[in-house]
Amino acid sequence: MPFSSVVILTGAGISAESGVDTFRDKGGIWSKVDLRDVATPQAFARDPERVHGFYNERRAGLKTVEPNVAHRALARLEQEFTGSVLVVTQNIDDLHERAGSTNLLHMHGELTKVFCTKCGTHREERGDLTTFDYCSHCGATGTLRPDIVWFGEMPYHMDEIQEALQRCDLFVAIGTSGSVYPAAGFVEEAQANGAHTAELNLEPTDHDNAFDDVRRGRATELVPAFVEELLGA
Ligand code: NAD
Ligand code: APR
Repeated sequence: MPFSSVVILTGAGISAESGVDTFRDKGGIWSKVDLRDVATPQAFARDPERVHGFYNERRAGLKTVEPNVAHRALARLEQEFTGSVLVVTQNIDDLHERAGSTNLLHMHGELTKVFCTKCGTHREERGDLTTFDYCSHCGATGTLRPDIVWFGEMPYHMDEIQEALQRCDLFVAIGTSGSVYPAAGFVEEAQANGAHTAELNLEPTDHDNAFDDVRRGRATELVPAFVEELLGA
């Protein structure tokens, strides 16, 4: 049955084969660093240099990784699909953009963006950030922070996402453990609005039984095949 409006939620698993660490897999980021030391507003208030160091390292890592065939398949879907395609990513890397996706929302923010906590000005940042940096808009020093949604903060673009979930007839979750809300609840919201739902993941997740269609395997195998199916339907 051809679909007309697709919402695709991606998580760390779609970037894993590009060499970007996931969070909760074996050896994932949260097994090496306690998220309460680097991914909360309290951590930033307590030790901003520590938090800057954590994100500077991950930002530098972006220079050594490339989009993989799963990112490229989603960009192809956006270009060739007759209906609408929206990618909502929890990822803070820039691999979807570099693969060519344009209808894309970063609900947890972006590693390549920072903002001033004094005047709110956002800007791009591809290098290191320190507490000595100053805001080019208001001139304040030490007020710049990574433009990342931390634990306890509200994600970005929620109105647009909710609206898309109400409209879509296909919801696909790719490479996310479904551990973090509100993203983890999107499948139920889409289903409540009559959408068909699919999960493409390497491992079982807490939400497998919520999906109509569960496909087990690596994103680089599953996603190109899934896109072929959608384009051929
Ligand atoms: P949450 O309760 O939604 O998720 C907390 C998650 O962190 C749980 O899955 C838990 O398993 C995990 N966790 C907690 N302590 C941990 C530890 N020491 N090591 C590894 N994992 C640990 O988080 P929240 O605070 O309710 O999130 C609120 C908002 O923050 C959400 O809207 C979410 O989108 C956002 N968020 C952003 C980030 C980020 O790093 N960008 C991370 C998580 C949540
Ligand atoms: N192909 C498909 N799925 C994969 C692959 C792969 N090659 N490798 C790993 N996965 C799956 C894992 O099975 C797991 O379910 O990707 C998921 C990664 O889960 P997490 O590490 O929890 O990452 P994610 O779901 O994106 O975390 C959500 O939590 O800490 C916050 O902000 C952070 O955005 C993140 C959010």
